Amino acid sequence: MGKIILTGDRPTGKLHLGHFVGSLCQRVQLQNSGEFEKIFIMIADAQALTDNADNPEKVRQNIIEVALDYLSCGIDPAKSTIFIQSMVPELTELAFYYMNLVTVARLERNPTVKSEIVMREFGKSIPVGFYTYPISQASDITAFRATTVPAGADQEPMIEQTREIVHKFNSIYGPTLVEPEILLPSNCVCQRLPGTDGKAKMSKSLGNCIYLSDSAEDLRKKVMSMYTDPNHIRVEDPGSIEGNCVFTYLDAFSTPDHFAQFLPDYASLDELKAHYKSGGLGDVKVKKFLYAVLQEMLEPIRARRKEYEQDIEGVYDILKKGCEVARAEAAETLNMVRNSMKINYFDDMDLIRKQSEMYKAAK
Ligand code: TRP
Repeated sequence: MGKIILTGDRPTGKLHLGHFVGSLCQRVQLQNSGEFEKIFIMIADAQALTDNADNPEKVRQNIIEVALDYLSCGIDPAKSTIFIQSMVPELTELAFYYMNLVTVARLERNPTVKSEIVMREFGKSIPVGFYTYPISQASDITAFRATTVPAGADQEPMIEQTREIVHKFNSIYGPTLVEPEILLPSNCVCQRLPGTDGKAKMSKSLGNCIYLSDSAEDLRKKVMSMYTDPNHIRVEDPGSIEGNCVFTYLDAFSTPDHFAQFLPDYASLDELKAHYKSGGLGDVKVKKFLYAVLQEMLEPIRARRKEYEQDIEGVYDILKKGCEVARAEAAETLNMVRNSMKINYFDDMDLIRKQSEMYKAAK
């Protein structure tokens, strides 16, 4: 059996560099590797609504932003199916059946959900839909019989939950569902990119993001005001690399070629770091280099985005076609699930015949 990918993002904002290193860039590589029989990339609007029920407009407006970001990064609709979660109603039916296989106590233990509850300050007022989104995520994954879920480490508890549901389902109803595996980003710097303010995570709510759609001028301003080493005041001072996010970004994005091209005084990042640590290297020089590196990477993405922005109808067309393909796939799985659970009453001639014979014999 071929390998199948399912992954996705909540449409609550434009995608940023954190998404790029954490997932987008790897998805494009996987897509172009030819190793996968099918690839599904889902815009998880229904999941986004689990904690944005009062703001559907935000979710609605961001579907196109996420789609534009996907396409401009190189997700190719000829190779990957991009679709919108809520347009595949089969997913909600699957979730309804899976809910019977998961206990409240098990949901309570999910560390990602736990920390999201704290972050969103839900207190005791947790929406049921939000609480159960790991189950809905299990439907997303199993509906496409996905073998592989490329995602960040924060998604590990969701995949674990999915595997448990698959086990439980298959052991009760017979082998039906496929057990997925998470595929983490390979470079460990890339698993989590800090924000431009040095905080642990790049996140829209912290206002510390570099967006894929930022203009060159915005990019320059953001890079030039990035957090470095607060004790590195004069150029002569020795500087620290740890927690200095300009260097974290260089770890993630710079290559030896970039040095030859933009900063030929240094042969490698190690040399640049050594100079910074011993003193005599100013932040501005390092930031200008980082800007050049990021600008080279983001410029073609920005240019492709501009083209797609001029054809919004075309992008919706891609999404609509993707939804049709996704729906057919999910319907097939739902059919298998219903058959395994024997809730396919009208298709089960055996059931109808036996009950009919039983009552006739009793007459
Ligand atoms: N939870 C993911 C996020 O927060 C989005 C998502 C929904 C997803 N369903 C998925 C990711 C299935 C991977 C697989 O961005």
